[in-house]
Amino acid sequence: MLPKNQNMTGINIKINKIIEYWNSELLCSLESSTSHADVDLAYLDNIIENRELQKILSQYRDGKQGKCLDVGAGYGRFTKTFLNNFDEIILLEAAPIIFTHLQSLWGGDNNIKCISETFETFEDQNQYALIMASGLLYLYEDTLVRQFLEKSRAMLKAQGLLILRDFIAEPQRVVKSSYVRDGFCHYREPKFWNEFAKASGFELLQIDRSKPRLTLLRNSRTLTVLSSLHIKSVLKNPLIVNMSIKFGDWKVKQDEDVKTVFIVMRAR
Ligand SMILES: C[S@@+](CC[C@H](N)C(=O)[O-])C[C@H]1O[C@@H](n2cnc3c(N)ncnc32)[C@H](O)[C@@H]1O
Repeated sequence: MLPKNQNMTGINIKINKIIEYWNSELLCSLESSTSHADVDLAYLDNIIENRELQKILSQYRDGKQGKCLDVGAGYGRFTKTFLNNFDEIILLEAAPIIFTHLQSLWGGDNNIKCISETFETFEDQNQYALIMASGLLYLYEDTLVRQFLEKSRAMLKAQGLLILRDFIAEPQRVVKSSYVRDGFCHYREPKFWNEFAKASGFELLQIDRSKPRLTLLRNSRTLTVLSSLHIKSVLKNPLIVNMSIKFGDWKVKQDEDVKTVFIVMRAR
């Protein structure tokens, strides 16, 4: 349960259950976006995803300016990349225990403000150049996604970017969540994102993998062998990171399982 002093009045009950989950399980490391993962692999993925995010920002933006909002920031693993691209950063995190840690990591920086609230209750007259949400919307049903996109559109400047790090699958599938009480994981098709983007005042710019496939490295047996040889930290080696980026499989194939992607939209 969330602490009593956390005012949850009026928040959609479904979002409350999602936050309850994160607040009890937390994130497994500073670099991880999730509660249960291999920490060395999460470290590797985090470097790769930050590089990909930087590439996207360089492609669609000029220089370091404007304000950015990271919705569900977790421990703020994209914050350094935001600092390289924006003057002002708002890290929004609704799970109280995760927020406390986020605040202790980033609260001392003058360009960063940490706020403990859900996106749905957050009110701000500011016009953002970027809104980012990583690891959120797959737990949202369609109506909540629609509300999220419409609110994001209203908070963005014209030409502002919305970047979602989420999952896609073709054909799309809905799976009962093993973690969130009464929750479901929605792995949607690119077609869904295209239609929802258009209907909410966005132009869909791209949907690309956030990290390469790396089937061998992600195999649990490989990780067990590396671990038993006490060499799993090799995954953090810059050479392995660079080789993964260069030689990893970045193609989005239709018949493959769920994949993690950056969905990039621009406010019309
Ligand atoms: C999957 S974790 C991802 C953390 C971080 N974005 C990352 O990629 O590493 C999702 C985070 O978003 C927070 N969160 C989920 N829904 C939210 C909402 N509606 N408003 C604010 N925070 C939310 C959760 O508490 C959790 O810390």
